[in-house]
Amino acid sequence: MIIAVDGPAASGKGTVARALARHFDLPHLDTGLLYRAVAYTVHRLELDPTREADAIAACDFDELTLADPALRDDEVGQLASVVSVHPLVRAALFQRQKRFANQPGGAVLDGRDIGTVIAPEADAKLFVKATAPVRARRRHHELTERGREITYEQVLADIRARDARDSARSTAPLTQAADAAPLDTSALTVEAATRRAIALVNGRLIGRRSTA
Ligand code: C5P
Repeated sequence: MIIAVDGPAASGKGTVARALARHFDLPHLDTGLLYRAVAYTVHRLELDPTREADAIAACDFDELTLADPALRDDEVGQLASVVSVHPLVRAALFQRQKRFANQPGGAVLDGRDIGTVIAPEADAKLFVKATAPVRARRRHHELTERGREITYEQVLADIRARDARDSARSTAPLTQAADAAPLDTSALTVEAATRRAIALVNGRLIGRRSTA
């Protein structure tokens, strides 16, 4: 069983995807980490993230980078949305994600294009969203808890800039797959969002069985 979870930054898609993986006992891949690893490598090698050739050179990143806590920084997220615009970067990361999705027994993947590009055949697809101010409040809380000094307004502006870049790019833009179930987490607690996500996936699985 493949479960695709897509959505914008700080929508709660990572939390929902991890909870689904635990509930259905499936391996989970946070695909944003791959783009973050490319971005971080571009930065470390002092390459230009806007040049496709430079970003491609960083796709061959050291596997240990994936465990680096620095990948979680907001600056790396912003840079990831710059390198992820390049079609050749997306192509370089495609097979790895596809293999993960198609492993025996299935998997949960979260990102921006899982339901549309990586696993259009997924058994269940969720599109997790929340209003920009709610997402900015969550991210601001997370960053200040980690000791970062940043204003809510700056976080909101960053989120809006990232949304615009992720939605406007021509290759694999952030968009809800036609057959994805929407899950708006704006007014939900983590527990409520998790319960709702499990119910939506179960609903999809029952729907698929009855039409098979
Ligand atoms: O999900 P996360 O915020 O970690 O993703 C960082 C950036 O990586 C996103 O803003 C997006 O530009 C890019 N990304 C993508 N496709 C994915 C996952 C992430 O383009 N499947």
